Amino acid sequence: MTDPVIRASNITRNLKLGSHIVHALRGVNLEIYANEMVGIIGPSGSGKSTLLGIIGGLDSPTEGEIEIEGVDITDMDEGQLTDIRNQKIGFVFQFFNLIPTLTALENVALPIEFAQAPRHKPFERAKELLDMLGLGSRLHHRPNELSGGQQQRVAIARALANDPPILLADEPTGNLDTHSGETVLEALSAIRDNNGTTVVLVTHDPDLATQMDRVLSLVDGRIVNGLSAT
Ligand SMILES: Nc1ncnc2c1ncn2[C@@H]1O[C@H](COP(=O)(O)OP(=O)(O)OP(=O)(O)O)[C@@H](O)[C@H]1O
Ligand SMILES: [Mg+2]
Repeated sequence: MTDPVIRASNITRNLKLGSHIVHALRGVNLEIYANEMVGIIGPSGSGKSTLLGIIGGLDSPTEGEIEIEGVDITDMDEGQLTDIRNQKIGFVFQFFNLIPTLTALENVALPIEFAQAPRHKPFERAKELLDMLGLGSRLHHRPNELSGGQQQRVAIARALANDPPILLADEPTGNLDTHSGETVLEALSAIRDNNGTTVVLVTHDPDLATQMDRVLSLVDGRIVNGLSAT
């Protein structure tokens, strides 16, 4: 069997809240393989965002180890983590965080223009991604001229602009109605199928979770299952 794309071994994360210590993660082990689409579910405060942040190199564990594509990133400094994030990770959040003055096409082209060694021509690639996500007729619209689901698909295209092997999404449908949420999920599935991207998605929505290959259920900082929804 090939190595996992993401491996977490005994991850804990303690956070200081005043004089109090919050045990956000209490010994998480997981392996996620290439081309999997994995859901993370669990109650509010169970550690989902904390876990996603550690997988994506936005945060470091208190104890334990985290490997991305076989590389141990646990003790990397901020500069090294920035490189990992730029090369390996695409992030999608609940709030789309698009630049309001730029069109869809410009928003997606921007990270390619900023890449150290771009693999694509920015506007060609941006158009290709937006076409793939069903936004070919919205290239020149600004975010406030797009629906929530469309904006989130632009954010997904932007996250994929530099071909990261891993896409991490934290409640990407949390702000969307059911139909728009479906279009976003379809977009993520298309990405996985067409690009071979490994997708990890945090969601509160049990219906969404059932559409994943596999669901990890977090309770109080621990993974408690293989499968079921909350
Ligand atoms: N910066 C921080 N400082 C202190 N405690 C924090 C911080 N960030 C998160 N926490 C705490 O860590 C725990 C896990 O938080 P986390 O954001 O990972 O939960 P979550 O599962 O993503 O919740 P939600 O579904 O509400 O987004 C919570 O108890 C939270 O209060
Ligand atoms: Mg969260």
